Amino acid sequence: MDLREAILRRRSIRTFSDRPVDTDAVEALKEAVLWAPSAGNLQSRVFYFVTHEHTRQKLGKASYQPEIFASAPLVVVGCTDDAIVGEYGERGRDLYAVQDVAAAVQNLLLTAHAHDLGTVWIGAFDPEKVREALALPAGLEAVAMVPVGTPAEAPAPPEHKPPHALFHDVV
Ligand SMILES: Cc1cc2nc3c(=O)[nH]c(=O)nc-3n(C[C@H](O)[C@H](O)[C@H](O)COP(=O)(O)O)c2cc1C
Repeated sequence: MDLREAILRRRSIRTFSDRPVDTDAVEALKEAVLWAPSAGNLQSRVFYFVTHEHTRQKLGKASYQPEIFASAPLVVVGCTDDAIVGEYGERGRDLYAVQDVAAAVQNLLLTAHAHDLGTVWIGAFDPEKVREALALPAGLEAVAMVPVGTPAEAPAPPEHKPPHALFHDVV
């Protein structure tokens, strides 16, 4: 799929059919995460790929939209890894590690779309409940969750800011 096409046509999908995500697509998603840029190439991120139904339900309860998780056959959880502190201190932990996850999540969303899969980036959740659901080790913190599956809806494109409110050309 053309990159521009993927960027423009990707939509947040919050309802999925019950078709599982096939192995090739999962591998493509993992590759997309792996090759995302990261601060100092420290790759201060760890991703959990969750298909286990009971765990998915727990992740849904950790969010404020459990109905999304109920229909998604796969949930990807992106975690910051605070090992980055050794290299970049607080800025590494509070900013770079979050951005490392975010860059990988965007790669994942676009790659999923290119495989005819729907996704939605979920930021609204209780990280402590996610920690408990995944038994996350100290040092990892969940900062993004992404339910993935075959879309069962086709939302209209959202409104965007007018260009003058978004861009400042400094020439
Ligand atoms: C950091 C971040 C957090 C988000 N958190 C949520 C969320 O908790 N629940 C949700 O339904 N959508 C969430 N979204 C999805 C946005 O609502 C969605 O991207 C936005 O409305 C634009 O729609 P589009 O993705 O179809 O272009 C989040 C998106 C981002 C980037």
